[in-house]
Amino acid sequence: MTAERTRFTPGTARERKARGEPIAMVTAYDYVSAQSAELAGVDIILVGDSAAMTVLGYESTRLVSVDEMLMLTRAARRGAPATFLVGDLPYGSYEESDAVALATAARFVDAGCDAVKMEGIGPIVGRARALVARGIAVMGHVGLTPQHTGLGEGFRVQGRSAPSAIDIIEGARELEQAGCFAVVAEAIPAAVTRELTPRLRVPIIGIGAGPADGQVLVFNDLVGLYDAHVPRFVKRYAEIKPELVDAVTRYVSDVRERRFPGKEHEYGMEELEIERLRERLDGKGGQRKG
Ligand code: KIV
Repeated sequence: MTAERTRFTPGTARERKARGEPIAMVTAYDYVSAQSAELAGVDIILVGDSAAMTVLGYESTRLVSVDEMLMLTRAARRGAPATFLVGDLPYGSYEESDAVALATAARFVDAGCDAVKMEGIGPIVGRARALVARGIAVMGHVGLTPQHTGLGEGFRVQGRSAPSAIDIIEGARELEQAGCFAVVAEAIPAAVTRELTPRLRVPIIGIGAGPADGQVLVFNDLVGLYDAHVPRFVKRYAEIKPELVDAVTRYVSDVRERRFPGKEHEYGMEELEIERLRERLDGKGGQRKG
């Protein structure tokens, strides 16, 4: 299936928007989640810094390091060799200067990414322009940008007032002008997305933003693996975590009740070899243990 699919490219993003064909994007953070996403035929996999909370158990996306993100990125690439892969540059790894952003982005490309994503507008627009000029495809991210929300501040919908909505729309336009091939819009009113989407030629990929040119969901939310905080925009397509807990609970009980392992889980040995083994162990005057 994967071999027959036409590989998504930054150019495809714009074409898909022009044809009105929605783009399906999902996050993935390891071999299994990325493989599942590829087998399902998603257009784009994002190795999101949401991994900080959903996979690594940190309290904020700000706490994940570049090295941790790169390890997850390599695993995702091994799981999804044929899918367009975007790496999320983590907090503190690109804001400082174009040179720092370039050095970090290059490491993500080396780890197998087709593009990188950076959160924010304002000074980040210049970082995006610098990366695009060096041939690195960039995805923008406007609206709620959790990396720039203070620790413990929580996740708040952005753009609810006209001036803040205009900032978001202007910011997204600047990202497009800087060369971003797509822009994620997170946690903004659907009314703002309706104004934003037709004003850009590159696709708006929404998450908690209502209908847009495409959608992205966090893998662990989508399959019901993460339940610490489930935003209202999440649609659960499975409830995997209770199944996992149930499976491990049954295993624990089987071990304690000596129901596992059964005969079918054992490796066999020829009778003759067993006899030889016993002779060697007992015949040399050694005492059989147990
Ligand atoms: O890290 C992430 O999962 C993201 C998505 C919410 C777009 O940035």
